[in-house]
Amino acid sequence: MSDIDSFKFSDAGRTRCDEIIARYPDGRQQSAVIPLLDLAQRECGGWLPTAALEHVAECLGMAKIRVLEVASFYSMFNLEPVGKNFIQLCRTTPCWLRGSDDLRDVAKEVTGCALGQTSDDGVFTVVEVECLGACCNAPMVQINDEYYEDLTAENFRKVLEAFKRGETPESGSQAGRSGSAPTDGLTSLTGMGAD
Ligand code: FES
Repeated sequence: MSDIDSFKFSDAGRTRCDEIIARYPDGRQQSAVIPLLDLAQRECGGWLPTAALEHVAECLGMAKIRVLEVASFYSMFNLEPVGKNFIQLCRTTPCWLRGSDDLRDVAKEVTGCALGQTSDDGVFTVVEVECLGACCNAPMVQINDEYYEDLTAENFRKVLEAFKRGETPESGSQAGRSGSAPTDGLTSLTGMGAD
């Protein structure tokens, strides 16, 4: 495992940490472990070195192994360094049926990363994940905190090339629909009357 020697929350992070812990009743502060791990991961550049896990454990009075158990269970936490743009490619059945294999191939072409790899320049990491809960707009990927949906090989290539240029393309449906509304316009609730 890669690592760094020490970690403590920044002053702003410590303030945020105290706010998060205060949401929970006395004696239940350990319930804050997931938001504190998320906070620590953001302060560490997208991953959780051992020192960060230990600091979260200290903040919550938890055994370090319990914190590691949580961090190693959820795919939202990384125990190794990741690239600046962390691409989570959904390959569960709905996304797979709608072309996630093509997206994997495009990701490899544009970023140079096979699944599970980080590019040499540190710009991209590509991983596969299970369903991210946006199946109605499959296939989709999560890049950093945003969802990119209704993807095709063509529009996904454009999204990745924009990230490669240092831009942040608009997230959401890449087919131009609003949310998960029908692609051909509304089929019900089309007016205010009783018709
Ligand atoms: S299967 Fe991909 S979001 Fe659900």
